Amino acid sequence: MARKPAIVHTVKSLRARVAAWRKAGEKVALVPTMGALHSGHLALVEEARRKARRVVVSIFVNPTQFAPSEDFTRYPRTLKDDVRKLADLDTDLVFAPDIPEMYPTGFCTKVTLGGPAEDLESVARPHFFGGVATVVCKLLLQCGADFAVFGEKDYQQLLVVRTMARDLDVPCVIHGLATIREADGLAMSSRNTYLSAEHRAVAPVLYRNLIDTAIHIREGSSIAWALREARSNLSMSGFRVDYFEARNAIDLSPINSLGDGPIRLLAAAWLGKTRLIDNIPV
Ligand code: PAF
Repeated sequence: MARKPAIVHTVKSLRARVAAWRKAGEKVALVPTMGALHSGHLALVEEARRKARRVVVSIFVNPTQFAPSEDFTRYPRTLKDDVRKLADLDTDLVFAPDIPEMYPTGFCTKVTLGGPAEDLESVARPHFFGGVATVVCKLLLQCGADFAVFGEKDYQQLLVVRTMARDLDVPCVIHGLATIREADGLAMSSRNTYLSAEHRAVAPVLYRNLIDTAIHIREGSSIAWALREARSNLSMSGFRVDYFEARNAIDLSPINSLGDGPIRLLAAAWLGKTRLIDNIPV
């Protein structure tokens, strides 16, 4: 039976709830989100439920990861619906702070990143990972969870968060979950709702090109050739490609051949005003 999760809006209340669970010896898993929950998020919550007795979902549209030109104001905010969906999954607690709770007057500290944060997303969105890493660091410290679950859909983000938690000794295990896809292969994302019907029909071509490129590389084609093919196919299908790259899956360093280690293909491309990202292992 659905059980409506408790909702707290302050760090103090969050800490009080988690402290009571800890006292009872219960493990806690956190799923950080910006809300507008879809099946991809719900799979993260289910994974969290498998990892720990108690599950906290944070819902906070984080302003510091949006550039002024981006969609912060129009990003979907659907708290009531989100809570209803979480009730079906037996979520224990929703943490939904407002902006002053997360960034009180005088807030001036930011996590500075290197390694996997460099390049790819950071070229088009140089502000992005600083904002993500800072808010995730805060959420992990505020919640004190044993585990935090992130989707591989944002693969670079997952590596950035994992590196940040390791380097700053945040005592939380960062767990990645495979991307959840629509029936036609499109990776689930809150931003898919921005796509026009025409663009929605074309959107799965991004995933198909990732698959084809992985096959070409596995079958021995030159990586540079396979990437060029994919970029050109996408342009012909109406995408504007930000990047379509093959990288080392562990640290996102450049690779030249199959022998250079596990490979991840990562792509970002625009359809009209909507930017899609996706990635797969080779
Ligand atoms: O992936 C997201 O939804 C956000 O970047 C995150 C991790 C919740 C930080 O705001």
